[in-house]
Amino acid sequence: MFSQKLQDAINAQINAEFHSAYIYLGMSAYLEDMNMPGFAHWMRLQYEEETMHALKLYDFMHERGGHVVLEPIGAATSEYASVLAVFEHTLAHEKKVTSLINALYEMAVAENDYPTQVLMQWYISEQVEEEKNASDAVAQLQWVGDFGPGMLMLDREMGSRQPEAE
Ligand code: FEO
Repeated sequence: MFSQKLQDAINAQINAEFHSAYIYLGMSAYLEDMNMPGFAHWMRLQYEEETMHALKLYDFMHERGGHVVLEPIGAATSEYASVLAVFEHTLAHEKKVTSLINALYEMAVAENDYPTQVLMQWYISEQVEEEKNASDAVAQLQWVGDFGPGMLMLDREMGSRQPEAE
């Protein structure tokens, strides 16, 4: 039994993942404005990854015979104080997403919905990686300073990010 309560929560998570995608696209736009093509590329891939997270839930809803509801996606800014601020926001945002995923997993456990539990385990692992990527970037940016020569090297390194295989 795929409960309406769980379907509502998954629909809310689909919206949250699309909103994350939108937030990261706004960050990518800011990084383009800052002439940081490597960082902008990294953040654009993050946008694509979040879209994939949303679509994975969307596909799951259909596989289970659920009903997808697509609510409006919240706005996203492209104004930030610095590259470091972008990644600090990313880390804070990912921590928020982790708590949403954990709550969804707990709901699936409470309802004995095993397929949703299995799916949520994938997202739980993904969130470990998402938080690690953001906190590594924050640490490196704190190390080089906003306009230090290391920024150019870091920008090149971020530019080498490849799309993640599913
Ligand atoms: Fe879809 Fe960045 O979590």
